Amino acid sequence: MTALIAPWTDAQKTGFLKAPITFSHGLADTGLFTDENLVKLLDRWPHELYDINLFDFDDEGNTILRTGTRGRTPGEQVLEGIKGGRAWVQLRRADQGYEGLGEVMRAAFDGISAQVKGFRAENLNAQLIISAPQAKVAYHADAPGVVLFHMRGRKRIWIYPNDEAHMPQVGMENIVLKQQTEDLPYNRAMDAAAQVFDLNPGEAASWPLHCPHRIENLGEFNCSLSVDYQTWESRIINGAHYANGLMRRAKLPVAAMDKTPKAARAALWAAHVALKRFKLVEDKIANLDRAFELDGKPIAA
Ligand SMILES: [Fe+2]
Repeated sequence: MTALIAPWTDAQKTGFLKAPITFSHGLADTGLFTDENLVKLLDRWPHELYDINLFDFDDEGNTILRTGTRGRTPGEQVLEGIKGGRAWVQLRRADQGYEGLGEVMRAAFDGISAQVKGFRAENLNAQLIISAPQAKVAYHADAPGVVLFHMRGRKRIWIYPNDEAHMPQVGMENIVLKQQTEDLPYNRAMDAAAQVFDLNPGEAASWPLHCPHRIENLGEFNCSLSVDYQTWESRIINGAHYANGLMRRAKLPVAAMDKTPKAARAALWAAHVALKRFKLVEDKIANLDRAFELDGKPIAA
């Protein structure tokens, strides 16, 4: 396989995971993301790994999200509906269910590791995102690390600092404890602190762990691959957030994560490994209802 990641500049190498960066990649040239291939995927993707989201937005840009299933609607009609509407389809575990994609994803991450000394990503997990010209992804943060590879259309991403004002620690505790979805409180004034990038086909974006972000497509049909991953460090921090979230529920004192030394984070992580077995909090995300089923009908704009 030819190199999927071209050599990085020094600024990209030193900035990776310390600041938002963009870089070039070759996923768009693999032929994996043509209309023809997307239709085939939409036709055969298992229902339980297939999300269709219809979006409405209020004046502040907050989302009213309806998540549904495709029902009996054929792939060709779903793709047409995405191109003409305000829908967003996510095919989860794309690296496992789409032959060739897993190999490409791993080769791209090998390419990143070749640029950044010591970067070792594990538990790679890809979502193929196929979205309408006007689709937006609301302000949110992901618990794992993420690289967003963009293949078709243009989109704009706002990336915000992962400080208390933009990513409250309690919010991340709730996300790792699965007490809330990844959506976070947002208002337009926060945009002053954001770094903004326009992604063209063949570009990717990455940011420091837990940086909130939001996305707007720029009037074109879009196809992207969002790959989440863990590193040793992200595991420790997320485990520490998990333990802190339980301590907070027990009314015990919780320190700010950015003031928690490495050794204390590791101790919290170890506590979380033990505590996780007891399932002390109920997963409130797993059973979120699907609000509709397309039931063979095209998606209305
Ligand atoms: Fe995200």
